[in-house]
Amino acid sequence: MSTADIGLIGLAVMGSNLALNIAEKGYTVAVHNRSAGRIDEFVAMAKEQGLDGKVIPKADLAEFVAAVKRPRSIIIMVKAGAPVDEMIEHLLPHLEQGDAIIECGNSLFTDTQRRFDYLKPKGIGYLGVGVSGGEEGARHGPSIMVGGSKEQWHNAEPVLTAIAAQFNGESCCAYLGEGGAGHFVKTIHNGIEYGDMQMIAEVYGVMRDGLGMSPKQASDVFKEWNKGPLNSYLIEITGHVLAAVDSESGKPLVELILDKAGQKGTGVWSAIAAQQMGVPATAIEGAVAARSISSRKDERVAAEAIYGKRNATKANITLADLEKALLAGKIVSYAQGFAVIAKASDENGWNLPLSTIAKIWRAGCIIRSRFLDQMAAAYSKGGNTNLLVVPDFVTLMKDSHPSLRKVVAAAAVGEFPMICLSAALSYFDSFRQAQGTANLIQGQRDFFGAHGFEIVGRGGDLHGTWPSTLGK
Ligand code: 6PG
Repeated sequence: MSTADIGLIGLAVMGSNLALNIAEKGYTVAVHNRSAGRIDEFVAMAKEQGLDGKVIPKADLAEFVAAVKRPRSIIIMVKAGAPVDEMIEHLLPHLEQGDAIIECGNSLFTDTQRRFDYLKPKGIGYLGVGVSGGEEGARHGPSIMVGGSKEQWHNAEPVLTAIAAQFNGESCCAYLGEGGAGHFVKTIHNGIEYGDMQMIAEVYGVMRDGLGMSPKQASDVFKEWNKGPLNSYLIEITGHVLAAVDSESGKPLVELILDKAGQKGTGVWSAIAAQQMGVPATAIEGAVAARSISSRKDERVAAEAIYGKRNATKANITLADLEKALLAGKIVSYAQGFAVIAKASDENGWNLPLSTIAKIWRAGCIIRSRFLDQMAAAYSKGGNTNLLVVPDFVTLMKDSHPSLRKVVAAAAVGEFPMICLSAALSYFDSFRQAQGTANLIQGQRDFFGAHGFEIVGRGGDLHGTWPSTLGK
């Protein structure tokens, strides 16, 4: 008998936690996993939490599908890439018109769009859903960014809305647009996450090497900052990470962790998408580049041997300036992220609601922070103006950009790398400068390639009379 409200395939940590979350909210969930052993483990876990009554375990795929009420909503939570395509093919013979596959991994949005287009003529809905909040979020309330088949979204809406985080009584789950829209927004969420993390790491670098602060002292500062305008999940966890002590050595854990950062792709995808659409997203690009530099440990060690260790003099930077610099950098980074989303919305006809996106990022997700509420308000009247010209943020930037400037300048002199914060500052200075320097670029392009230029007041596609023997 079909009694499950929803099905879920893929019982690794994220999938298990989502399934438990669904059960806890009172919905019956059919579960399936390729290796049956994992299903038993999951059932034992559900039992421990008193939720097994809401779980229908099925080791056989056909029986699993049959256990879900029609029209079916089936979540797949498997590794992004080929495993998703394989799972779709396994499922297809068992599905019927009107059913939907809801893919909740960190998939590349163009893959999601392709899968959506593939399944549409077969009468199968496809929802590409970004789920943010890590393991804890999946279990107790993530932020859920839905894209894909609108009709089938309505079938799954009660469950997805119920399991999401809540902010002031509003669910942090929303349908954002067709095709790959949900996964695109999740990708940019992650790009912004990269920027936030990198800027925090750059500030930590100054605290550690320029101000001579211990991890515990730095932790206390981040904990204090979390009470102010920087209040956010990432600032909060930074306080905890810096305070952690290795039980074996008794030393601060952060000092023992190898300084090589991993990455699974969403940051790179964000940077590529931004570049492809011609939207400057320098903070995200800087953050991705910083991770790549971090991973080249051997090269860095060799280069330090050539150039010498940084002359770790006391940095001429105050904690108050660091706090404001971080705020300014963050505003620029979010302004860039939203600009990328706005452009993608136009290009793909997604009609993405920027205010709703800011709203569903206010709780549950990794980049949740106090000022997302202000961003939601900024976009609440519609439009997609760059945040840097929205009055509330103009006020904040006017107050904080001098600190960003001081910090980046002192960092340059003190030899502290600030790939992300300096990128944010340069973007801000380029963005606000009415007269730029691209007039010279246009002259150069015309010199070597006759690409033409516009003369102000005279019109475009003009050429200069350049000396013919030069530049050859
Ligand atoms: C989230 C996180 C989550 C995951 C990232 C980490 O929103 O919950 O972004 O999706 O932690 O994939 O990405 P990297 O491994 O690339 O840092």
